Amino acid sequence: MAATESLARNVVESGRRAAERSDTSAGTQERSATFRVWRGTGSSGQFRDYQTKVSEGMVVLDAIHRIQAEDATDLAVRWNCKAGKCGSCSAEINGMPRLMCMTRLSELDLDKAVTVEPMRAFPVVKDLVTDVSSNFRAKKRIRKFTPRPPDAPDGTWRMAQSDADRVQEFRKCIECFLCQDVCHVLRDHHLHEQFVGPRLLVHAAQLEMHPLDILDRTNELKESHGIGYCNITKCCTKVCPEHITITDNAIIPLKERVVDQHYDPLGKLVRLLRGRRSAGTPPEEAQ
Ligand code: SF4
Ligand code: SF4
Ligand code: FES
Repeated sequence: MAATESLARNVVESGRRAAERSDTSAGTQERSATFRVWRGTGSSGQFRDYQTKVSEGMVVLDAIHRIQAEDATDLAVRWNCKAGKCGSCSAEINGMPRLMCMTRLSELDLDKAVTVEPMRAFPVVKDLVTDVSSNFRAKKRIRKFTPRPPDAPDGTWRMAQSDADRVQEFRKCIECFLCQDVCHVLRDHHLHEQFVGPRLLVHAAQLEMHPLDILDRTNELKESHGIGYCNITKCCTKVCPEHITITDNAIIPLKERVVDQHYDPLGKLVRLLRGRRSAGTPPEEAQ
């Protein structure tokens, strides 16, 4: 109990320090703004209005920290970097999935109450904190990076720069899960077990297009990762704070691979003939 209280005190104190830091870096012109914040646990809760002072340069996370420090010390909010890099502070601001630390108050109409609520595609733990563990379970279902044996005796590989560049975009992902939050397959239809979602399709694309990886995950993409549920609405791409072109560069090429493997009769025939030929070829010729 003492440890929990001390942890809670530390959380509030770090929020207060963050709010103070934003005060000193921001301009001095203050005004009052209303934040309509979701308060509750599990499926029960309601919005509560908090009026707080805001000033130039502040982001939504600063306002939440100030509310936490001054009005609602038990308000739960997850954050770490306040720099758009850890992916922890995802929430829905005025109904849009966004990072709280990267949403400037100057972008919002402060004459109206600003709503701040947890991501709706995931179970609420408390207030603005959601349980995103389904994403980590989905990640475990995707077979890991499996490189071919090294190309050189010193244990190194050779690859074309253009092949390496292709997957760099996917490596920018900060696992904020905003794309998962906005995807109707997860948000409205709750198919978390059948469909891994856009974030994990980005992860699968990163592995499938990696020049050293030797696995073929197209069968799982079709059968257990549920790529067929995606109907290319592109909502995920629109909310990605890292500007990853999720649909065009990751999902569509993966869908094309699945189609080539499973629905292209000519490709199937070629693969069948190749398989037969190599099965009937003496080992020394097959090398
Ligand atoms: S494009 Fe596909 S993955 Fe992205 S939000 Fe739409 S249905 Fe979901
Ligand atoms: S792909 Fe973009 S929106 Fe999705 S988790 Fe990664 S950074 Fe967030
Ligand atoms: S606090 Fe790290 S991304 Fe917002």
